[in-house]
Amino acid sequence: MRTVHSLKELRSILRAYRQQEKTIALVPTMGNLHEGHISLVRKASEAADIVVTSIFVNPMQFGANEDLDSYPRTLAEDQDKLAPAGNTLIFAPPVSEIYPEGLANQTKVVVPEVSEGHCGASRPGHFEGVATVVTMLFNMIQPDMAFFGEKDFQQLAVIRKMTRDLMMPIEVIGAPTVREEDGLAKSSRNGYLSEEERAIAPVVYQTLTHAARQLEAGSRDFAALEQEARDTLTKAGLRPDYFSIVNSLTLKPASDADKELTLLVAAFLGTTRLIDNLSVTR
Ligand code: PAJ
Repeated sequence: MRTVHSLKELRSILRAYRQQEKTIALVPTMGNLHEGHISLVRKASEAADIVVTSIFVNPMQFGANEDLDSYPRTLAEDQDKLAPAGNTLIFAPPVSEIYPEGLANQTKVVVPEVSEGHCGASRPGHFEGVATVVTMLFNMIQPDMAFFGEKDFQQLAVIRKMTRDLMMPIEVIGAPTVREEDGLAKSSRNGYLSEEERAIAPVVYQTLTHAARQLEAGSRDFAALEQEARDTLTKAGLRPDYFSIVNSLTLKPASDADKELTLLVAAFLGTTRLIDNLSVTR
């Protein structure tokens, strides 16, 4: 396992691998790694000869009032966690390596429609930041495939559309959400929760499973299910940002004819924003 910080060094290592016709998989992360990230790295190392795990807290995807400064940066621990997960090359560039001229005049990638609702509505510019940095990582690493978690369901949809629309020759592979025993989706932001908040947090997943069961049982009153879920979250002490039942492919509001549905939720617990989702087939 090796960690490189400069693009020049990364490119020269990857050039040698490519000459040997090795396949390359990319796992983009912002670090502070947990079992969710590690599951992606394991899958990537089963699928490709070489895995690159990028660790970069991307300033472009954080809003002005968000947690860019407090986001946990834990490279030494991340290296320890990655060591047993497969022979990955870690790319951990400083901000100056990715945005040498700053953010203000950076060329951006905009993915319409699928990035507009849900988290895109609550976090203006967020998916532009994600799509831009992922495009840059794709160009820097030129992987054959890239792995993303279903935990960030809208992000995965944005990356899939971007890759398709821009004819990027990269296979995008989604992987299931890894959860704590009580159902809470693993997230770097769970570390922000107080003990009391941590005890409340599993309500997010319980709300999803409750609504999903009703959909599976044939309920079609999406608006009522959404409202019930928001009420449950509020009663438990969360502040729901959205709870939406959508078409799994378009992320548009679900209609009666849809067979593949996804329930998307974002809610604040104190100052921490938690997101989760669950898909059902009817
Ligand atoms: P980050 O939040 O660090 O997540 C990196 C990858 O891990 C994403 O694909 C995310 O969906 C996946 N992931 C997070 N929690 C997971 C869980 N509990 N189970 C399975 N996979 C999980 O997402 C980002 O970083 C950034 O936006 C990034 C794509 C790196 C661009 O900056």
